[in-house]
Amino acid sequence: MAKEIKTIGVLTSGGDAPGMNAAIRAVVRKAIARGLKVKGIYKGYNGLLNEEIKDMTARDVSDTISRGGTILYTARCAEFRTPEGQARGAEVCRKHGIDGLVVIGGDGSFAGAQKLAALGINTIGVPGTIDLDIACTEYTIGFDTAINTAMEAIDKVRDTSTSHERCSIIEVMGRGAGYIALYCGIANGAEDVLIPEKYDYDEQRLINNIIANRKRGKKHHIIINAEGIGHSASMARRIEAATGLETRATILGHMQRGGSPTCKDRVYASMMGAYAVDLLAEGKTNRVVGYKDGEFTDFDIDEALSMQKSISEYMYEVSRALTV
Ligand code: ADP
Ligand code: F6P
Repeated sequence: MAKEIKTIGVLTSGGDAPGMNAAIRAVVRKAIARGLKVKGIYKGYNGLLNEEIKDMTARDVSDTISRGGTILYTARCAEFRTPEGQARGAEVCRKHGIDGLVVIGGDGSFAGAQKLAALGINTIGVPGTIDLDIACTEYTIGFDTAINTAMEAIDKVRDTSTSHERCSIIEVMGRGAGYIALYCGIANGAEDVLIPEKYDYDEQRLINNIIANRKRGKKHHIIINAEGIGHSASMARRIEAATGLETRATILGHMQRGGSPTCKDRVYASMMGAYAVDLLAEGKTNRVVGYKDGEFTDFDIDEALSMQKSISEYMYEVSRALTV
């Protein structure tokens, strides 16, 4: 028989992402609407092990939906990777009466949730990462805000690049994934996009392309480089030496993780937070919320963690074709 849930805990873990507050707010308010109690766990699994846990009311999440970051703070926790750390995490949940837990984070955080589920704490993962690198879902909290932030920044670099007739290499985040780079490549009309999934780096081809474009009269050359490839500064120095064109590297960095979430991130994060509460209330455990084929849905965590994600070949092809 499904375990009846009375108190839900919620935490954010791994890198923060704009929209996490909307998800926390939805967990708190949907749980209260269903007659459940909610406890906020601060600083991810670290806060769980240190018992940084507070009761949450509907008022505690007022005025948070438009704020970037996470009101529960976030952390990475090495101790939670050990069986002893996980056993202590389950024990702390029991001590505080937490019988259901919502973990907002990425694949690493879900691996932690999976361990807690095996130890008898009902857990649900909600995908929160700007990288979009979670295989079971077409949407992750924060990606939409991050690409809009990066897109606006790249437009600005492009203005000054054109004025000085320079080449610019702009490095965007994404860890091992190239989604931010690929989306911005199309949205910013970049001349070249370098992503780890298509790593066939050929600097001579890049240099020939820059020279050919300059001969055709192009005033700038924007290369969007995913952080999974990196080395933007040394790349810029070599390209400048080979082409004779002034070349600058800009690393956008953590600005991509901040800022007020877009409408899409607010709405989808709210839906996913509420969905996670519904799953717990139905007695479900070891699930991850996802968005697939236009619907919010859920997957077994074991299955979700074993899935592989690949970049859309067609999208990559279009990004190349539109630079002609
Ligand atoms: P993300 O959740 O964004 O992928 P991390 O990979 O940094 O971020 O993971 C966040 C936290 O999740 C880690 O600091 C650790 O506490 C926990 N975690 C990661 N992998 C595991 C694992 N295999 N088992 C238990 N906990 C894990
Ligand atoms: O996973 C989100 C992310 O911003 C990645 O794009 C990036 O590689 C990483 O986190 C940076 O982590 P940190 O904030 O620890 O520097």
